[in-house]
Amino acid sequence: MHTVSVATPGGHYPIHIGRGRLEALAASVPADATALAVITNTTVADLYGQRVHDALAAAGKPIHWVRLPDGEQYKTWDSLNQIFDALLGAALDRKAVLIALGGGVVGDMAGFAAACYMRGVRFVQVPTTLLAQVDSSVGGKTAINHPLGKNMIGAFYQPQAVEIDLQVLATLPAREISAGLAEVVKYGMIADAAFFAWCEAHVQALRALDDEAIAYAVRRACELKAWVVSQDERESGLRAILNFGHTFGHAIESGLGYGQWLHGEAVGCGMVLAAQLSVQARGLDPAVAARIQALVQAIGCPVRPPALGLDRWFDLMRVDKKTEGRHIRYVLLPGLGQACLQAVDDDKVRPLLAAAGG
Ligand code: NAD
Ligand code: GLY
Repeated sequence: MHTVSVATPGGHYPIHIGRGRLEALAASVPADATALAVITNTTVADLYGQRVHDALAAAGKPIHWVRLPDGEQYKTWDSLNQIFDALLGAALDRKAVLIALGGGVVGDMAGFAAACYMRGVRFVQVPTTLLAQVDSSVGGKTAINHPLGKNMIGAFYQPQAVEIDLQVLATLPAREISAGLAEVVKYGMIADAAFFAWCEAHVQALRALDDEAIAYAVRRACELKAWVVSQDERESGLRAILNFGHTFGHAIESGLGYGQWLHGEAVGCGMVLAAQLSVQARGLDPAVAARIQALVQAIGCPVRPPALGLDRWFDLMRVDKKTEGRHIRYVLLPGLGQACLQAVDDDKVRPLLAAAGG
């Protein structure tokens, strides 16, 4: 097992990465927990519910289950209320601990529920998708979607621990692996050029979930994310770089309707567009932008944006937490492994989207 530590003003917490972590889950239950509530979805419950139940039983606490419908389209107030109904229905108190068992959708919603229930109860992230293991379970961003914008309602709220079992990736569909790899390669683009080159060299091994390659990629991604979050938990500056590709990506997700493109797919395509914009606005070497496009394609994500209509792109992109006034701010790359946040006029972005077919 490997441990990465996340340091925030509220305290430190560990990310444990290894095989068989599900079986060790009881160790992450605080001794004074009065009860556990496992928040998951129907798909993950069917796959891993019994194993998790057996593992948690060793902690000797009452265990309650909340099974949500599966899908990005259910990252809503209704699902959140379903969690509150279950917690209140079971009369769980402030010392209850939530266990977020699933991908980023479950993790974001369970985290938000933990932040709100009785003004805050403890929770543990048990991410079961590659995307959730390398990104969403780490760093305490929790949220639900709004029909007008992605992740617009939420809170910063850190988990007690993140338990990453690499074995559960074996049941992920190939499309979900590709989507998770988009967030993996993102770290190389924004913060670690050597890791980017390593991803280029190991792309087939990563897609095949080769044990050694995937363990290294998850660990390096968690180290880089922990490094960023430890410096800027609440995104007052540096943390925004983790949003590389997301301004375009979130517009794709909300523009097409949540769940049409996977989050990682939209981010992958968004990174290709953001790299092209970086060539124009930050003088990025076009050869680097070409490498970024080639890598996004090689991991199996789309590189051509959907035709949303040019005006609509800007309406959608303006609904973004980085927007200031009416100015859309993009994460751009001055070079490979370096990132910055910058406002760019719509008139400069329009030709790029038009040329890409957007
Ligand atoms: P997801 O949670 O929808 O999971 C993808 C699919 O895989 C679902 O159908 C799920 O049921 C299934 N699944 C989960 N684990 C499985 C397993 N082991 N085997 C088989 N199937 C499994 O999607 P995701 O890509 O994990 O997460 C995307 C969400 O994460 C988006 O809502 C995005 O906004 C959010 N996100 C949040 C942050 C953050 O910092 N909080 C960062 C990135 C993404
Ligand atoms: N995924 C973006 C962030 O955690 O800040």
